[in-house]
Amino acid sequence: MNQSPLYRSARVVYFSGTGCTALVARVLREAFVRHGVEAASHELRAGVPDPEGSPDLLVVVYAVHACNAPEPVYEWIGRLPDGRRADGSPSPVVVLSNSGGGEVWPNLACRVGVISRLAKRGYRTVHDQMLVMPSNWIVASKPPLAARLLEILPERCDQVVARVLAGRERHSRPGWIDRLTSACGEAEKIGAHEFGKRIRVSAACNACGLCARQCPAANITMNGSRPVFGKKCLLCLKCFYACPTQALSPGFAKFILVPSGFNLKDIESSLPWPEAVDVEREAAGWVWSGVRKYLLETPD
Ligand SMILES: Cc1cc2nc3c(=O)[nH]c(=O)nc-3n(C[C@H](O)[C@H](O)[C@H](O)COP(=O)(O)O)c2cc1C
Repeated sequence: MNQSPLYRSARVVYFSGTGCTALVARVLREAFVRHGVEAASHELRAGVPDPEGSPDLLVVVYAVHACNAPEPVYEWIGRLPDGRRADGSPSPVVVLSNSGGGEVWPNLACRVGVISRLAKRGYRTVHDQMLVMPSNWIVASKPPLAARLLEILPERCDQVVARVLAGRERHSRPGWIDRLTSACGEAEKIGAHEFGKRIRVSAACNACGLCARQCPAANITMNGSRPVFGKKCLLCLKCFYACPTQALSPGFAKFILVPSGFNLKDIESSLPWPEAVDVEREAAGWVWSGVRKYLLETPD
């Protein structure tokens, strides 16, 4: 039964590189459905047309890239029809980010740009929040933490959905230093295009074409037996981790890749984690403070 007088339908629009945000979007959609709201999801990827129609509530969720949102999210906002209704009031939108590090500096303003561009298109953010999933860049989340993050996801998504449907708004208020950090993250988009052009392909490549099929930017084409990389790389890292022969390597900034690789299916298959996870110990130190907070504290 629909428990919300506010919304009867919702659309979860998401950008995901290595699959974590796709899972978040699925769990969110299921939570809406459980609460009696008709819900659909839509992935932002090259070649997939935007859906038609206007749901009562839009939800956007994206993987945090360099303390900001990836390019396809901004491009989608640019294509959105004006959200203002006949009486001039804006349409509601929920803005969720999904990161490896959580709601701590330098991530605190990672939704500011999205919220302000949505406002210009006639959408008012009624809830914004960070969700946390395993890290797919630089430092991998330790296996017990990665497993715990997947285990807690349904609970965290349900809390978001219940609060939104009850009409209790949530607005984060990042400071100017956070905003500056996030704005600097925009530079990553230029770096990403360069990064993509310089991806190397080793002799181990078996020309399976998986990288080309999976690239969300359609930036990889197969030229005979070799993948060729264009100028639209989003730095999502999907191609590196998906390659069955580990034939791809970055031309520079190798530190971005988790050395052991990243495979969400492997993390999912580790569930249920066989023992209680000591989050204080596994997520000790500043780098994991946002993950610690996410796992141990109920969101306000
Ligand atoms: C290029 C790149 C930049 C990232 N930047 C951040 C960041 O600034 N802060 C953070 O906490 N996590 C960052 N991450 C980690 C991802 O946000 C996180 O692992 C997320 O779960 C990945 O989602 P996906 O599997 O849907 O792509 C970054 C990942 C990549 C690939």
